[in-house]
Amino acid sequence: MAVLRGRTALITGAASGIGAAIAAAYAGEEAALLLADKNPGLLEASAQTCRKTAASVTTAVVDVTDADATKAMVEQCVSDHGRVDVLVNCAGILTEVPLIDMSVTTWDEMIAVDLRSVFLCCRWAIPHMVEAGWGRVINIASQLGIKGGESLVHYSAAKAGVIGLTRALAREVAPRGVLVNAIAPGPIETPLVEGISQDWKQAKQAELPLGRFGRPEEVAPTAVLLASDPGGNLYVGQTLGPNSGDVMP
Ligand SMILES: NC(=O)c1ccc[n+]([C@@H]2O[C@H](COP(=O)([O-])OP(=O)(O)OC[C@H]3O[C@@H](n4cnc5c(N)ncnc54)[C@H](O)[C@@H]3O)[C@@H](O)[C@H]2O)c1
Repeated sequence: MAVLRGRTALITGAASGIGAAIAAAYAGEEAALLLADKNPGLLEASAQTCRKTAASVTTAVVDVTDADATKAMVEQCVSDHGRVDVLVNCAGILTEVPLIDMSVTTWDEMIAVDLRSVFLCCRWAIPHMVEAGWGRVINIASQLGIKGGESLVHYSAAKAGVIGLTRALAREVAPRGVLVNAIAPGPIETPLVEGISQDWKQAKQAELPLGRFGRPEEVAPTAVLLASDPGGNLYVGQTLGPNSGDVMP
């Protein structure tokens, strides 16, 4: 039995990496999907893959830092599919700069893409979920929001913010049937980490108890679990860690 049959999910960052893998996994569970991303070419390729199994798939080319555009994206989900049951906030960027060299622009951009966007998408989607009396929000954070990372004060702060937002919002809306949780992956082989040096990757892999990075399709099942009923029913404000054992909170 497909566990997301009858559900509609809106997934940001759905064109690539973890977001595309979550989209494919939700499609395999027969959800209806609105896939959103700023990259139109990769978004269409991801949508084509999902159309093989999903109940239906539409797309929105959106910059998740734009308040009006994210509001229109949520309204599109309701007009395309009649509802928004599940919101997956996955769009994100990663840059590496030591604090002493970090420009204010670099800081502001990271906070806008990796944290403010999560507020915006929740702000527009949550009222629909509260009205329906059922909803699931899954925010893709990072283990670096828990442990911190060198040359990553902006990324680590944004992801810690996502975890804090998740906990606060979970308390606010759980009594109204909306469950909010986060996933904090460890290093996952996606285009996001392609720019990192081989030396760093080898050293990092060596310190992981599992001895290797994860793959996007190894993160996606956690997002299926959190969206599913009854599998996800008791998770409220949690941060789940598919991270090869790097962080054990
Ligand atoms: N790869 C990892 O090791 C790792 C680890 C922990 C957390 N994460 C998080 O997982 C999420 C997905 O990352 P990924 O590794 O799949 O990277 P990715 O680069 O493969 O995918 C990120 C997607 O977000 C989209 N995006 C970026 N900025 C956007 C914007 N302003 N508006 C709309 N879309 C935008 C990109 O176009 C891309 O399709 C991110 O939030 C990232 O921080 C990744």
